[in-house]
Amino acid sequence: MTSIGTLGSHCALQVLKGAKDEGFETLLVCEKKRERLYRRFNFIDKIILVESFRDILEQKYASQLNEQNTIIIPHGTLISQMTSSEIESIKIPIFGNKWILRWESDRMMKEKLMIESRLHIPKSIPNPTEINDLTIAKRHGAAGGKGYFLTTSEKDYKEKRDHLINQGIIKGDSDLYLQEYAFGVSAYLQYFYSPINNELEFFGIDRRYESDIDGLGRIPAPQQISVDKIPSFNVIGNSPLVLRESLLEEVYSMGERFVEAAKRLVPPVGMTGPFCLEGVYNEDGQFTTFEFSARIVAGTNLYVDGSPYTAFMYNEPMSMGRRIAREIKIAKKDGKIAQVVT
Ligand SMILES: Nc1ncnc2c1ncn2[C@@H]1O[C@H](COP(=O)(O)OP(=O)(O)O)[C@@H](O)[C@H]1O
Ligand SMILES: [Mg+2]
Repeated sequence: MTSIGTLGSHCALQVLKGAKDEGFETLLVCEKKRERLYRRFNFIDKIILVESFRDILEQKYASQLNEQNTIIIPHGTLISQMTSSEIESIKIPIFGNKWILRWESDRMMKEKLMIESRLHIPKSIPNPTEINDLTIAKRHGAAGGKGYFLTTSEKDYKEKRDHLINQGIIKGDSDLYLQEYAFGVSAYLQYFYSPINNELEFFGIDRRYESDIDGLGRIPAPQQISVDKIPSFNVIGNSPLVLRESLLEEVYSMGERFVEAAKRLVPPVGMTGPFCLEGVYNEDGQFTTFEFSARIVAGTNLYVDGSPYTAFMYNEPMSMGRRIAREIKIAKKDGKIAQVVT
């Protein structure tokens, strides 16, 4: 019997509820400090307690997962807590293409894949001396917006960078990626690509509430100016959005271009399973993609009972977690499991 497992964080509840609904055994790798939370949910069949998520890199835990025939569903926590090499070294089957997670973590590789996808992207700024306009400085990996900052000049950049170095958050310039700030309405576009039926499904859209940048609008300008704090972009939660229907055609087209580009650049299977294109719409309805996530995003937690878009494809509530489990179920039945795990 195959079980579906994930790390206790991010979107674990959605993933395991979806797995249970599709008839799988469910397994959670859980840090001891969170045991009480996850014990509340009876769709979690087995909990493996660890001190830290990195423990699964140890043989002892890997054996336990293998005994349960576990397929791991990767999410943001896996990426933020392990290096790409560590993730690639995991011997337990991982849903999707684990090799593409490196392309998510490394901002330069990420940019390359977005260019290959012919997405409209913000200009990156290779050197702080070239900062002229509003620029965002971001860390590598899925740092979740912590330690990101806005700047408009080299001088200001250096002050903020040094502040982060003093706080021990970064080591130096090489930990920061500089990108032109894209103005507009933010939208995080959630997709699922099935290699089994070669089809791209558009699942929904979320927006992020990021602290403390999203709180700033509540403070009048004179007070904003006098506050000496560098606002960060740390995600606190998500809210839903639906798009003007006329924008949907390009939504599908962008997703398909991304899948095609990943097939060319990222062996062995390109972009399979869930992913997200993240960016902003400008006044002409043009989307600028500032980054992507090559796995399930926590913004899909909004749609545990289905979204305004999944309702058109499924006559039952379909969450992203459940869609993943269904893909595994179909792949198993058809003897195609090698196409959906790496
Ligand atoms: N080029 C950009 N223009 C405008 N906002 C941006 C840009 N890049 C990032 N952001 C903001 O910063 C947040 C975090 O950046 P992102 O590239 O998504 O990094 P992460 O990998 O940490 O999610 C985004 O959700 C968005 O609010
Ligand atoms: Mg992001």
